[in-house]
Amino acid sequence: MSGPNSTPVRIGIIGLGTVGGGTVNVLQRNAQEIARRAGREITITQASARDLNKPRICNTDGIALTSNPHDVVNNPDIDVVVELIGGDTLARELVMSAIEQGKHVVTANKALIAKHGNEIFDAAQKKGVMVAFEAAVAGGIPIIKAIREGLAGNRIDWVAGIINGTGNFILTEMRDKGRSFEDVLKEAQELGYAEADPTFDVEGIDAAHKLTILAAIAFGIPLQFEKASTEGISAITTEDVGYAEQLGYRIKHLGIARRTEEGIELRVHPTLIPSKRLIANVDGVMNAVLVKADAVGPTLYYGAGAGAEATASAVVADLVDVVRTLTSDPENRVPHLAFQPGALADTAILPMDEVKTAYYLKMRAQDKPGVLADITQILGNANISIEAVIQKEPSDEATHATIIMLTHLVKEKAMNQAIAQIESLSSTEGKVTRIRVEQLNKDD
Ligand code: NDP
Ligand code: HSE
Repeated sequence: MSGPNSTPVRIGIIGLGTVGGGTVNVLQRNAQEIARRAGREITITQASARDLNKPRICNTDGIALTSNPHDVVNNPDIDVVVELIGGDTLARELVMSAIEQGKHVVTANKALIAKHGNEIFDAAQKKGVMVAFEAAVAGGIPIIKAIREGLAGNRIDWVAGIINGTGNFILTEMRDKGRSFEDVLKEAQELGYAEADPTFDVEGIDAAHKLTILAAIAFGIPLQFEKASTEGISAITTEDVGYAEQLGYRIKHLGIARRTEEGIELRVHPTLIPSKRLIANVDGVMNAVLVKADAVGPTLYYGAGAGAEATASAVVADLVDVVRTLTSDPENRVPHLAFQPGALADTAILPMDEVKTAYYLKMRAQDKPGVLADITQILGNANISIEAVIQKEPSDEATHATIIMLTHLVKEKAMNQAIAQIESLSSTEGKVTRIRVEQLNKDD
């Protein structure tokens, strides 16, 4: 390359696993194209991994290797640190140290950003360095850039996304192939999709990390992971999937952040979505984020949500951004959380009890006159109106019928109270299954 500054930018990569390995591969394979875009070559000077004898998915010839990640951060020859180890303890230490030393950081670590992002961005702002995190949300989909820059003229009303590839892969394989939960999770781990602790994927914690980040950049609020309401997919049964289909819905694990007059909803849970919505048909490891904004209306972003090179695509795009802006005035860069640091709002996050949604309810009740009337009376007393009811007669040896209902909108607190009353009826058996329903209409 030639130009005012044609020296290569030297980077250090911490972590050579799925994403680190993919990043090395993409940087090496597309080196020329990347340099033409960035204006300077990008050289991987040093990289670290825990076990240097482990086989890698990438070629590390010519890269100095170390098992101590601090060596990379402290290396005076490195301009940009790429953090790809995961977790939020050592990663936080390394990122804060890099910032302290005036180095730019690129990370794919949503746990780190969701939990410590406010502190990290504050430190970065003071040091005039960039901390780029496109790969932290929805794998290869450039959703951070889309919201932070592409939609900068809009007031964003809500964001709803399938933002965990592992969870969506499990739900899809269970529905389409009748495979067991455990079997599909194992495959997701082998493919490198799952987190080091896969309960983060199946219990919605990973999606809540990502949703926290999306909400911050969509609404201009600080990162508030501790206020996100999180429910996983482990309780979803193939029976519920089947009933939902009969009612014209698909069950998806959604992260939803919505601005309301009372505050901001921040919630991750299994959700029934009308089957005809594009997002209801996003399957496998693919992710999709639907953003409803006032000027443009709804826009949908779709792509691979996990995996080595899909995620590397976002890591490398961030590197290109960092390289392009290396010489620009720190005050004039795109703000980390989309809004200027001094202009973040203190809008409250709504407690889940106050959130209004429609519900899918499944319960087992004695098949005799008056039982359905008792249930509908409880719902009626709580001002919960019913949109649809299906009753499945009991098989010969069973005493209870299965009743499935769809309700209209109601506050979560009222629904929980009504469910408790239904469960206490002598004519019902066991727990009521409750899954939230979202229409995701353009007018919502
Ligand atoms: P991996 O487990 O595949 O890789 C982690 C890497 O970090 C490994 O090379 C490992 O070394 C190294 N490492 C881990 N702990 C330490 C430690 N204590 N000291 C030194 N090195 C360490 O993880 P992924 O690549 O899947 O994930 C990395 C990050 O990217 C995470 O934050 C994850 O959430 C995020 N992410 C992952 C995606 C994916 O599809 N996998 C997608 C988007 C984001 P060794 O190899 O020797 O064990
Ligand atoms: N474990 C995450 C997922 C990786 O499955 O979505 C991508 O962030």
